[in-house]
Amino acid sequence: MATTALIVAAGKGERLGGALPKQYRLLGGKPMLRRAVEALIGHPAIARVRVVVGAGQEALAGDALAGLDVGSLIEGGSERAYSVCAGLQQVETDAVLVHDAARPFCPPSVIDRLIAPLEFFDGAAPVLPVSDTLAKASDKLGEPVDRQGIVRVQTPQAFRTVPLRNAYEDWRAAPPTDETTVARAAGLTVASVEGDPLLEKITTEADFQRAEQWLASRMTQRTGLGFDVHAFGGKGPLMMGGIEIPHERGLAGHSDADVVLHAITDALLGAAGLGDIGEHFPPSDPQWKGASSSVFLGRAAELIRERGGIIDHVDCTIICEEPKVGPYRLAMRRAAAAILGVTEEQVSIKATTTEGLGFTGRREGIAAQALASIRLEKW
Ligand code: CTP
Ligand code: MG
Repeated sequence: MATTALIVAAGKGERLGGALPKQYRLLGGKPMLRRAVEALIGHPAIARVRVVVGAGQEALAGDALAGLDVGSLIEGGSERAYSVCAGLQQVETDAVLVHDAARPFCPPSVIDRLIAPLEFFDGAAPVLPVSDTLAKASDKLGEPVDRQGIVRVQTPQAFRTVPLRNAYEDWRAAPPTDETTVARAAGLTVASVEGDPLLEKITTEADFQRAEQWLASRMTQRTGLGFDVHAFGGKGPLMMGGIEIPHERGLAGHSDADVVLHAITDALLGAAGLGDIGEHFPPSDPQWKGASSSVFLGRAAELIRERGGIIDHVDCTIICEEPKVGPYRLAMRRAAAAILGVTEEQVSIKATTTEGLGFTGRREGIAAQALASIRLEKW
């Protein structure tokens, strides 16, 4: 049965707070919404993914989902249930998997468990047992509630699309917090399958911190090495570390010959195990003739982020007799940091001479070495 994953992301995230609605907050360097979509989009049982966003959040969602095939965004409503209804109108497949952007880690095994019962049931939902004691809430602790036979119901929830859409149309009570509530009221059959602690919803700051810690525990530290040389050739100024440095001689190269950014780019690609700069931006390709090396560095940073990676630090040593690097060091750190999307403190630029020895000592060219430290998810 063809299935659409419908992800509702039109909430305001008021309980979590912060400058942005929580679904756009970076979790392990990636927007939470992007993680929720990526967890579903690659699953073989899911034919397509659609996302419901709040009015006015299209640009935020567009940035968060850049490069992912989610069709056109759907505008949500003032309650989760209205957002789900708006989304259901657009679902064209026989089955739908309704999911919250606020649950960014959906294991593929849960999707398998949800899809299978649709052959015999109208819907299926993942559930987990309750392990705490339950009691009625009041000023003083209220009556105990027997937890025997009580479960917690998570999302995603799978349904045959038409019966679920009809159930929502017939619903007259206050907006429900999930689909099983509506489906059960309409008399639909809903299978319960085993849920997963990774599906816990991120509601409060404590939930968010727990999710960050879980992701951090899955990250491994990696280091990459970069090295580059460019010969002097032609008139100055020269480009180095993303800035123009006044000098009587420039550096020769196919691109802008920014030896510092090239070394850092290679260090980052090396840390991520993604080949080298020549592979990504071949000098034989005319589109890179005279190109700004900031494009190369920016792309390397983007490739790391796309993999959920975090850039911790880059360190570069420039080896030359001339020009004197000292006066430009801070500007280079700032320029490189801006391209990488990190702070100036995360970029180090140093310089040394070779005491007149070798090609740098003979003032024939400039060399640069770089080390990059990043974190990548283990997967
Ligand atoms: N949601 C939605 N439309 C709404 C409200 C919520 O699509 N009008 C989505 C949220 O974006 C989230 C999911 O429903 O992915 C679960 O809702 P919740 O955790 O309550 O998120 P928020 O409503 O954003 O948070 P809060 O209630 O703290 O404001
Ligand atoms: Mg809410």
